[in-house]
Amino acid sequence: MDTNRREFLKGTFWMGAAAFAAGCAMDKIALGPQGGPMMTYADKPMKKVRVGVIGLGRGEGAVRRMAQIPNTYVTAICDLNEARINKQLKWFDQMKIARPKVYTGGPEEWKKLVDSDEVDLVYNATPWLLHAPIGLYAMRAGKHVAIEVPAALTEDECYELVETSEKTRRHCMQLENCCYGEIELLSLNLCRKGLLGEIVHGECAYIHDLRSYCYDKFDEEKGGGGYWDYWRLKYNAKHGGNQYQTHGLGPVCQYMNINRGDQFDFLVSVDSKQESFERYAKAKFGADSWQAKTKVKMGDMNTSIIKTKLGRTIMLQHNVSNPRPYNRINLISGTKGILQDYPYRCTFAKNEIDGCHNYSPEFAEKVRKEHMHPLWKKCGKLAAKVGGHGGMDFLMDLRLSYCLQNGLPLDMNVYDLASWCVIGELSEKSSDNRGRSIDIPDFTNGAWKTAAPLGIVDVDIEKLGIKDDAIKAHKDAMNV
Ligand SMILES: NC(=O)c1ccc[n+]([C@@H]2O[C@H](COP(=O)([O-])OP(=O)(O)OC[C@H]3O[C@@H](n4cnc5c(N)ncnc54)[C@H](O)[C@@H]3O)[C@@H](O)[C@H]2O)c1
Repeated sequence: MDTNRREFLKGTFWMGAAAFAAGCAMDKIALGPQGGPMMTYADKPMKKVRVGVIGLGRGEGAVRRMAQIPNTYVTAICDLNEARINKQLKWFDQMKIARPKVYTGGPEEWKKLVDSDEVDLVYNATPWLLHAPIGLYAMRAGKHVAIEVPAALTEDECYELVETSEKTRRHCMQLENCCYGEIELLSLNLCRKGLLGEIVHGECAYIHDLRSYCYDKFDEEKGGGGYWDYWRLKYNAKHGGNQYQTHGLGPVCQYMNINRGDQFDFLVSVDSKQESFERYAKAKFGADSWQAKTKVKMGDMNTSIIKTKLGRTIMLQHNVSNPRPYNRINLISGTKGILQDYPYRCTFAKNEIDGCHNYSPEFAEKVRKEHMHPLWKKCGKLAAKVGGHGGMDFLMDLRLSYCLQNGLPLDMNVYDLASWCVIGELSEKSSDNRGRSIDIPDFTNGAWKTAAPLGIVDVDIEKLGIKDDAIKAHKDAMNV
């Protein structure tokens, strides 16, 4: 660990502590050129949000969602693949929206997009190894940045993103769309209303058979097929642990107020053996193929357990290898009841001695209707029409643009990014050491003790001026 970075964090902590002691929001303090904490940071309202999207696989959906949000303009796109660039330009023409500036032709062309005067927000949907480098470069160039998941791969990257966001006072948000799923928002609402009682335990996961995406070849001519340059397989081959943790973990952290009232303490993590990737490669490409000869470190299943400072536990799994239906588990359990997804179920105890022994589909449906999160109630139908994982991708982008337009703090700040992402490297270290317990750093430097929980967020769609009939569905949205 680079001690200078720790020094920076130590240096800024006194400002936060002083603010809390004085009972005022940290960001109201006049901060010097050295920056300040980002817990409740809000930039001045932006009349227009000009977005530059880098990486047009997953980024394709981002282009199409962002370009349809009022006062939000996709002014630049960047990708190495010509077919993907052309596909986007065709869409802009069909939609009669002004074409964005194109950056292509080399692996560092994205720097020109970031440096361009026509971009306020860099939307980074590139392969994992480019997440932190583009994020850091963007903030240093004075741009806000939103980064696909996982936004950072190592503890060092997490610290550097936190430090740079504080220093430059630029937003650095992780694009954790699952925090905006209907059932995740419902779960959050139930927790906020206290209907599950004191929250004690959560379970979450990313379970999705990705073998074909990882081993299929990317078709340069068509701009489709497997992942570009086998980037994911290359990472899977070198690393164990929970590599794609935030889809499950992000929502549970919001239910438990991690960084805002509670904090991670330590984790233990164990990988199962590797079987299914290597068997798949051999069966599909033959024993002599390079695929079959590629050793994969990633276990079929990783199981991690996190303990929080307030004594709660979170069970987190990662399995992209076995033939199983998709599952993020999304279980949240407290002293008064439980909700779990896949399929969605929920039950509340009648009193302190009621055991909640059965689920009833009718009760779950009643709860879903009665306690639907206001954001989903207002925008869920519209979001589902736009598409992208049933609408949650649109809600995420909508909130991001809305917050920037209205000068509000973002729902997910750089501390959330760092806390959720650091679990990747730490789970690998624990698993490599027979499940040894590992302390999880507090990126807020103690601010979690007094920070307010994320509120029940909303969007004023009338003020924003969204017209339902003007919004077009993105039918081929990527749902991986
Ligand atoms: N949040 C979600 O639900 C979700 C879903 C899918 C993917 N993702 C994330 O999105 C990211 C991209 O995944 P994907 O499925 O689109 O992968 P992909 O392989 O389909 O696409 C990656 C794209 O990045 C481009 N690229 C690579 N290096 C580049 C460079 N130096 N400059 C410009 N462009 C470059 C490639 O040409 C390719 O088009 C990953 O981080 C992934 O984890 C998130």
